[in-house]
Order: sequence, then structure tokens, then C-alpha cells
Amino acid sequence: MASPGSLLDHLECRACCAIVAADRPVGPCPTCGHTLFAEYHLDRLDAARWRSGLAERPATLWRYRELLPVEHSEAITTLGEGFSPVLDLGEVPEAPGVRVSLKDDGGLPTGSFKARGMAVAVSRARELGLKELFVPSAGNAGVALAAYSARARLHARVYLPEETPPSMAQQCRQYGAEVVTVRGTIREAGASAREAEARSGAFDMSTLREPYRVEGKKTMGLEIFEQLPGDDLPDAILYPTGGGTGLVGMAKAFRELGALGLLARTPRLYAVQPSGCAPVVRALREGGARVGPWEGPRTIAPGLLVPAPFASERILEAVRSTHGDGVTLDDREIVAAMRQLADRHGVSASPEGAAPYAALARLAREGRVRQGEHVLLYNTGSGLPFSIDALEQATRGPS
Ligand SMILES: Cc1ncc(COP(=O)(O)O)c(C=O)c1O
Ligand SMILES: [Zn+2]
Repeated sequence: MASPGSLLDHLECRACCAIVAADRPVGPCPTCGHTLFAEYHLDRLDAARWRSGLAERPATLWRYRELLPVEHSEAITTLGEGFSPVLDLGEVPEAPGVRVSLKDDGGLPTGSFKARGMAVAVSRARELGLKELFVPSAGNAGVALAAYSARARLHARVYLPEETPPSMAQQCRQYGAEVVTVRGTIREAGASAREAEARSGAFDMSTLREPYRVEGKKTMGLEIFEQLPGDDLPDAILYPTGGGTGLVGMAKAFRELGALGLLARTPRLYAVQPSGCAPVVRALREGGARVGPWEGPRTIAPGLLVPAPFASERILEAVRSTHGDGVTLDDREIVAAMRQLADRHGVSASPEGAAPYAALARLAREGRVRQGEHVLLYNTGSGLPFSIDALEQATRGPS
């Protein structure tokens, strides 16, 4: 059956309620500078029919075409991303009585969940006529932008903090992107990129500063809904949080599914952060309205080294509106989780992707997940670029 295509309507700012046309490239809200979000003609979808027809569609994120912003099939730039497996980890000793699943995005093109956002955002950029794109990145987003830009024949420039694993810069270059190395964290890389690009005419693909990467990340929630239907839907999702796009995207997916009448309850979303850079968890504990910058950030998980996430109100809203919470872990717990996932479960996880496994042990110990509950751990990236031995060495000693 032919897909009816995208139901994209307009862009909307949740901070000032501005409505912006979606038919041209746009960054943050022109009125107040916050994130613009895509809104769809959900009323035009026959939800029950759509739901029952999904199983026959290709196993990529493009199966959710109606809820994605790309209007013309010719613009779709795909490497076969999405529909990653959900693995049953059964019961693990650290969380007795809890059913544990793991959604594994380590096998996606370019090795991480960043493929989801970039596949959608690059396709939309191409559709809207953009030619040159740039992004500040902790590594994975840059590699994904480079690969999808190569496929779409667009030019990409990636700004990487100098401590990014060298293999990431190498991959960006291999996909034909320009790489600029910046001293400091992604915060400095972002400031430097925006200054350097102010007059270049290139488009800023920074997460939540442009409206469409989060639409790609939304498919994490859509897939969880489809792969774990009905009573199988997890009670809690543990997600490694840096820029927060994944949490905001999943919350948006659950909201849209709810509006379509397809979701009876929403999983609790937990922000998992390293204790050396935990601005979101701190704001959750303090009850703040936004996330203040974290001074002196440090962690071995490059994607979680985000001291000042951009759309902080939306991240807090994603956690609070689902009755979730925050969890911090030290780097040693994260490396131990990488080891356990690999040698007990055969799962290769990056430090970010392993953090939820460590968080599960802590939440179970503290009674924040309970016996009989179903918890989904989100592995956001492959462990291939990382040596667990080297990370154990690096995190040994007094902490
Ligand atoms: C592997 C991995 N996991 C998690 C994150 C954090 O993602 P988010 O922006 O969705 O919080 C990143 C970001 O770079 C990452 O590379
Ligand atoms: Zn606004």
C-alpha cells in the first residue's frame, strides 16, 4: 500500500507559542530563541489502520513516514537506519525480580543512534535546498552528519573538541567532511563554530537548534511502542543524557501516540549522567526550571560531556511529565557496565550506551525500580571505538 506521506503541518515554539512555517530552513524560534518543534496533522491519520499496517513496512525508521517531516520521497537520504533490535536480558543479578530489555542502536549506520536524527535532518535539509551544513559534535553526531551529507551530496563541516577519540575525526574525514578541532568541550566547540560560520551561509545542524534531528530521535520512542506493545511496554526507560535530544524525542513520540489514541500509559524516562557532568540530574534534584551550566565537566563518556544543554526546559519537562527521575554514576561504574554487557550479554556498548546498565543497579538498590517492573536500557552506541582495558586503566585509582 502506498504511504500517504508526511503529515507535517508547521513548526511551533513551546516557550512562546510562536507558529512558524515549515517550508524553509529555520533555526531556533525567531521570536524567543527556543527550540521549534514540528507539528503534524494527526487528525488526518486513521490511527488504528496505520498501526496495523506498520508490520508490513520496511524495517527502517522511514516506516513512520507520516510522523516524519520529509515530504518528498526523492529527498530521503537513507543508509537503512532504524528498527534496531530489542534484546531480552532476562533478569540480571544487580536488579533481582526486574525484567530487563536493552534496545541496541550500536548496529545502526555510523555506529550510533545519531544516525536517526541526521538521516531525517539531512533529508529535510536537502529537500529545503540547503547545500552546506555544519555541526559541533562530541563525535558521533559529526560522523553521522558526514556520512549522510556524503550520501546527499552536501558539504559538511564538523567542529570536534580536541579530546574526541581520534577515530571519530578520521571517520568524518573519510566521509568527506571538513574537521575543525576546538579546545574545550562541546560548549566551546559550539561557540567557536557559530562564530566561525556567522557569515559562511552554512546551516547549523546543532541538536534542538534546528527542528528535525529530534524528529529522527523520536523514532526511538515509536519503535519501543511498536516492538514492545501493550502490556510489554516498559515501565521505565533508562537513557544516557547529554544534549537531551533523545529524551525530548521519546517524550514527543509518546505524546503523539497518546494524541492518536494508541498509547494507554507512558514509560517513566530516566536521565542517566556521569557524576562528573550531571547538569540535568542536578536541576531535577533541585527542582529548577532550567539546567544551569556544570563547571569543570569531566567524564570518559564523550557524548555525555555536555555541560550546558541547549533546550534545558524541554529536557526537564520530558523527565518530569513522565514521572521519571535522574541518576548519576561515576566513570568506574560506567566502565564496569561496559565490561558486564560485553562478557555477560555479548553486547558491545560505548561508555554512554553502557551507563544505563550501571544506572539500573543503582535504581534497583535504592528501590526506585521495583520487582515485577519492566525496564528498558537504551544502548545508544557501539563499543567498537573503545578499549575497555584502556578505560579501566584510565579510571583506576582514587576517585
Ligand atoms: C553514544 C551517545 N549516547 C548518548 C549521547 C547523548 O545524547 P542526547 O543528546 O540524546 O542526550 C551521545 C551524544 O553525543 C552519544 O554520542
Ligand atoms: Zn519562541
